[in-house]
Amino acid sequence: MLTRRAVLTAVAGGLAAPALLSLSRADTGRPLLPAPASAGTPVTHEVTLEAKPRAVKLLGDDGPASTLWTYNDELYPILRLKRGDRLRATLKNGLAEHTSIHWHGVRVPNAMDGVQYVTQPPVEPGRSFLYDFTLPDTGTFFFHPHCNESGQVGHGLVGVLIVEGDESRPFDHELVLVAKDWRLDSAGGFLPFSTDSGAARAGTFGTLRTVNGQRKFTAKVPASADIRLRLLNLDATRMMDVGVEGADARIIAVDGNPLPALHLDSWRVGAASRVDLVLRTPKAGNKVLLRDYFPAEIFDLAELEAEGPDRQSGAFDPAPLYASDIPEPDLRAAEPQAYVFGAASDSIASFIDTLDPNDPLSKIILDELCTAERTFWAINKRSWPNDGHRNLPPPLARLQAGRSYRFMLQNATPHPHPIHLHGHTFKVLSSSKRSLPVHHADTVLVLPKERIEIAFVATPGRWMFHCHILEHLETGMMGYFANT
Ligand code: C2O
Ligand code: CU
Repeated sequence: MLTRRAVLTAVAGGLAAPALLSLSRADTGRPLLPAPASAGTPVTHEVTLEAKPRAVKLLGDDGPASTLWTYNDELYPILRLKRGDRLRATLKNGLAEHTSIHWHGVRVPNAMDGVQYVTQPPVEPGRSFLYDFTLPDTGTFFFHPHCNESGQVGHGLVGVLIVEGDESRPFDHELVLVAKDWRLDSAGGFLPFSTDSGAARAGTFGTLRTVNGQRKFTAKVPASADIRLRLLNLDATRMMDVGVEGADARIIAVDGNPLPALHLDSWRVGAASRVDLVLRTPKAGNKVLLRDYFPAEIFDLAELEAEGPDRQSGAFDPAPLYASDIPEPDLRAAEPQAYVFGAASDSIASFIDTLDPNDPLSKIILDELCTAERTFWAINKRSWPNDGHRNLPPPLARLQAGRSYRFMLQNATPHPHPIHLHGHTFKVLSSSKRSLPVHHADTVLVLPKERIEIAFVATPGRWMFHCHILEHLETGMMGYFANT
């Protein structure tokens, strides 16, 4: 980290001194306010989301158009509701294959969880399905299909769900930033979303990085203002180390769950995770960069230019958020269970990492010889079957609803795995490798050889549990719990 920061300062040149978010400082920030009993009169929102193909120019205005699949006519539509509101969303399937909508991170009743064959029948082409539920928690969430995920999400089928009601004092401005890569050829056509050589390693990366569908996202923001950034990593594969330069910044929520405002150097955001930041913008005419330090070459997720009159005059001291109201696991009574994320025992992934990735032979082995058997990964040595969800395997476990569980998540592979549990918001208790603050999440990145402990109170239903690198869940790293 230190070397990187030294490099950064040099690169940051004309900007104000980098105010990186600092995890090393033992700063616990401002305590959260308890969740208010009610967020006002609940409203029912009726929306129709039609999944359909749509031409979008991702390769620049004079480049070719690409045929994306989107909900309605928008790339990443944003549904904005308040905590306690009711959402009635009708999915209309205008695609040539079946689909569904999973409300990632939202504690929905099981029947609304959107997993074909597990919680509902698939929504066939030309058919509809009504999702109807109340939003129990505030935060930054998203929604996506749950079958042929690398293909459907890869084509662009994903949307944002924002549940308001966590701000005890409104911020001056807000931006929603969706980071997602695309696998496009130069004619705007899609390259294969899944490759054996990617699926058996860290995933197949896109050819074009974008934020909000743009290669270089820029925006004007009010000067000397406290602005909220909701950053969603909706890529199939990528992880990011996110930090801010040119402004004082705090991280205020992870996966939609408020954190006491922490100073952090950077926060590692795996696929499917979200972070909310608040920052104090500079005086008019100055810029702020939101950067991803993870790749060899730093990627700027957003360049924000301050304009207009100052909005704030006092010191930067963002108002605390209201805590979310997640059932508290009883750690002493919790039942411990261990889940090991590993290679399928007889799969190519179990020895592929012993091969030199630059050796052309290793790519040939993967791409030519092994295309029939695409099970590379397993949870506790059990792989999700290759034939999709039709033949439901036995559950990983049957949890008792209302009971507390403590899971040790162990990564036995050389690749990071962002692990997601449906229908629950869990508490991340500890890592064997990093100093993470105790926080709530729905997806937790488990680094190579890392052990992460989480705890939660089980709810009834069949809940998926999988890696959110889409090619990993499609090649075995998925299971479910059948809770009664
Ligand atoms: Cu976004 Cu099964 O997950
Ligand atoms: Cu994975």
